[in-house]
Amino acid sequence: MSPRALITGGAGFIGSHVADLFLAEGYEVEIIDDLSTGNRENPPKGAVFHEVNVTSPEAGKIIAEGSFDVVVHLAAQIDVRKSVADPVFDANTNIIGTLNILEALRRAGSKGRIVFTSTGGAIYGDFNTPPNVETFPKDPESPYAISKLAAEYYLSYYGRVHGVEHVALRFGNVYGPRQDPHGEAGVVAIFCSRILDRKPLTIFGDGLQTRDYVYVGDVARAVFLAATSSIPPVERVDARAFNVGTGVGTSVVDLAELLQKAAKSDAEVVFAPKRPGEQQESFLNVEKAKKVLGWQPRVSLSEGLANTFAWTADQLAARHA
Ligand SMILES: NC(=O)c1ccc[n+]([C@@H]2O[C@H](COP(=O)([O-])OP(=O)(O)OC[C@H]3O[C@@H](n4cnc5c(N)ncnc54)[C@H](O)[C@@H]3O)[C@@H](O)[C@H]2O)c1
Repeated sequence: MSPRALITGGAGFIGSHVADLFLAEGYEVEIIDDLSTGNRENPPKGAVFHEVNVTSPEAGKIIAEGSFDVVVHLAAQIDVRKSVADPVFDANTNIIGTLNILEALRRAGSKGRIVFTSTGGAIYGDFNTPPNVETFPKDPESPYAISKLAAEYYLSYYGRVHGVEHVALRFGNVYGPRQDPHGEAGVVAIFCSRILDRKPLTIFGDGLQTRDYVYVGDVARAVFLAATSSIPPVERVDARAFNVGTGVGTSVVDLAELLQKAAKSDAEVVFAPKRPGEQQESFLNVEKAKKVLGWQPRVSLSEGLANTFAWTADQLAARHA
């Protein structure tokens, strides 16, 4: 019998790549997604799709009755600015949604493992000097980052008290094909669209702020390894948390230049006032994922940017065909 994986948020950017990979690895795949930001076209054909909200009793029932070996939980409110404007909505999706899944696993006495997708870009805050290590103090600067960290504490609690198998992955800035250029997370997706629309690239502030850009194919592989590798014993909250990035901070100015090169573009770069609350430096130490999961990024930034630009250009061409 094939192993079974349930992927919440599988109609989204990262989730659809994760679903592709689990199918390719021989898993039966089911997806829960309410399509609030996801795309109906994204889930792979071989997956069973449930259009369901992750906070609902129906989602709990699917998980409790599904005998899944792995639950990858990606469904979330991902927009930092929206979390500031409406922290109750953010907490409901990101905390209550996660609790709903954990309770379903507990009720079912599941032996399956939940892989939770957290943020390495936002939970460490501004008081540490990057590269951020998993055990660094956390000072989340937004309701989004607070809700992700709170969910990690629930995971850790369910592990210790109820024996729920879990891993938390703390992603850097994930980019690649299928990222929504209208979303808030994707500067690469936004820049690709603007180059193709022959519009200038806008950089907020001096453009020297750094981020850890990691390719979505590498991220999907980290999820798969986190789901299938042997993991450290349940302990403090950081014991089963892994940063997933490249270990390199890239400034927005350098990112724009690399993308221009990959796209053979000479789009104008314009500067706009710095956005309040934006972190200056953020990148991750990824030694733990290397050591424990045997994971490391394989796709260089220039290769990943070229892939992403080519995919965005193909999408545009298909729309105009
Ligand atoms: N993209 C990044 O750089 C990044 C960085 C750190 C962490 N993450 C995390 O990775 C996960 C996936 O992010 P993404 O970039 O693929 O975003 P995305 O918006 O493309 O995917 C999220 C998916 O979840 C679905 N969803 C949202 N609320 C839901 C709900 N209540 N019930 C059911 N489905 C719901 C959406 O429709 C969407 O398909 C998120 O948990 C996000 O916080 C992403």
